[in-house]
Amino acid sequence: MALQQLIIVGFTVLSIGFNAQNSEKKMSELIQNEFQFAENQYKYLMKAIPEDKMPQSYKASEGKVITKDISWWCSGFYPGSLWMIYEQTKDPDIRKEAERTLSLIEPNKTFTRDHDLGFMMFCSFGNAYRITKDPKYKEIILTSAESLSTRFRPGMQAILSWDKMADFKGPVIIDNMMNLEMLVWASQNGGNKKTEEIAIAHANTTIKNHFRPDYSSYHVIDYDVNTGKVLGKKTFQGYADSSAWARGQGWALYGYTMMYRFTKDEKYLNQARNIAKFILNNPTLPEDKIPYWDFNDPKIPNVPRDASAAAIISSALLELGQYTKGDEKKNYVETAQQMLINLSGEKYHAKLGENGGFILMHSTGGLPLNSEIDVPLIYADYYFLEALKRYKDWYL
Ligand code: GLY
Repeated sequence: MALQQLIIVGFTVLSIGFNAQNSEKKMSELIQNEFQFAENQYKYLMKAIPEDKMPQSYKASEGKVITKDISWWCSGFYPGSLWMIYEQTKDPDIRKEAERTLSLIEPNKTFTRDHDLGFMMFCSFGNAYRITKDPKYKEIILTSAESLSTRFRPGMQAILSWDKMADFKGPVIIDNMMNLEMLVWASQNGGNKKTEEIAIAHANTTIKNHFRPDYSSYHVIDYDVNTGKVLGKKTFQGYADSSAWARGQGWALYGYTMMYRFTKDEKYLNQARNIAKFILNNPTLPEDKIPYWDFNDPKIPNVPRDASAAAIISSALLELGQYTKGDEKKNYVETAQQMLINLSGEKYHAKLGENGGFILMHSTGGLPLNSEIDVPLIYADYYFLEALKRYKDWYL
């Protein structure tokens, strides 16, 4: 190699190294700033909620934080977010509020009316146990896993997501994949082996019936509870039965990546990779990588985004990056990074003391239900904080 070529190669290697270092520094600062911001911002949120309710969203036109009862599916996200903030900043008031709200939702451990107990009890007590190792938190998780497992219906080899909703007979929603985490964790941490078997059966049934050939997911599969026969492939929160509701794709990606973490079954990893392909190669995924609320809304680009879907997808991609290599891994991690940088930017991120005390703006809960359109949502904050923590733990 001529001297001139050697010098060029040398400079290129140096400049790649320098850029990588720069990007690391930028992400490290961003993450630190975000947790600091969250600590301060959640002190506003804390003051805006009644003692017996959990924050859900914010109605800007009335300047009012919307709160919900503890049996609402989102009741674990606020305590979970507080624990993640406490973990990074060690603020005693944040911890006090985390402990107070955990006590408030503890009675949910015997709740069996729908499938959401994993969101409620694992996002909350799971983080509390991970950080404190207090055995009383673990006991609550194991009890909650037993409660959730009562919803397993052997005839359909799946957990029944909802008892009664619309005209569905045996509805299973893609969101249900998320609630398997508590079942497998419990089983692998001193609980009942049966709860992991239930999670695996549910994940396998969902692979069989919930996905289209392009690996996009239906929202609701309606089953005959006794025979497992598929009665319908529908939506409840998406644009159409045949569309790809953005958050549902996020739940699917996260769910199968998480199932691979626990089981190391390649079938789950491949499912997650194919779902990622559908999301990341989708022609309607905007340049800033924050999805529109449904990938198939024909009015794109004049429809709301769903920052919660971006937060969930970024957190899942960071985990998928842990199980993959080379260019594939790079694509997952860089896309997640881009999502986090954009969510931290002016367009999606609140200013201190605004947005009702929530961190992110522009999420969409249930557009066809005319509910929570283009608003802050507590679970967008939760998965955003989780993704920041994952980036810090795994990529810095
Ligand atoms: N699990 C309900 C939702 O994602 O809106």
